[in-house]
Amino acid sequence: MQKKHIGFDLNIYPDPAELSGDDRALLAAAREATSGSYSPYSKFPVGAAIELATGEVVIGSNQENASYPSGLCAERVAVFQAGARFPGTPVRPLAVYVGNPGGSLHKPAAPCGNCRQSLLEYEHRQEGPIRILLQAGGGAVYECPSIRALLPLGFDPEFLS
Ligand code: THU
Repeated sequence: MQKKHIGFDLNIYPDPAELSGDDRALLAAAREATSGSYSPYSKFPVGAAIELATGEVVIGSNQENASYPSGLCAERVAVFQAGARFPGTPVRPLAVYVGNPGGSLHKPAAPCGNCRQSLLEYEHRQEGPIRILLQAGGGAVYECPSIRALLPLGFDPEFLS
């Protein structure tokens, strides 16, 4: 039997002011994107903002549906929009923001499994990592180095080649 450790270092910024100006701006764009959220069922607005290698910022927000599974998370709305509008342009960081009106969230919300799988495809396609910034309210920011780190042993196109 062999063992292989798979893990990553999560960077936590208790004080968001420690982040670079660009990262703070991207988180602000994700926060602003929550205004487009359609979340009458969960009442959990989420905003996402993606910076592309060319400098464009593409946003997304969660879009729910009376048939619950037909809705889509903010991250996929953003990354699919980026793929459709700027095909093949590498994605730099992705910021995800959730409000925290009642102060009940003690850590940022992390992308769901389906979003990780969708995002992994883009990481594979651009042959480079997509850094992720996560924040709830004005709280600490979590920084993850890549989607692969969040989805070790994910299913990628290599399985189909
Ligand atoms: N949601 C996102 O948009 N992104 C996440 O990272 C987690 C969950 C949405 C899906 C649904 O509209 C609501 O949040 C509650 O699950």
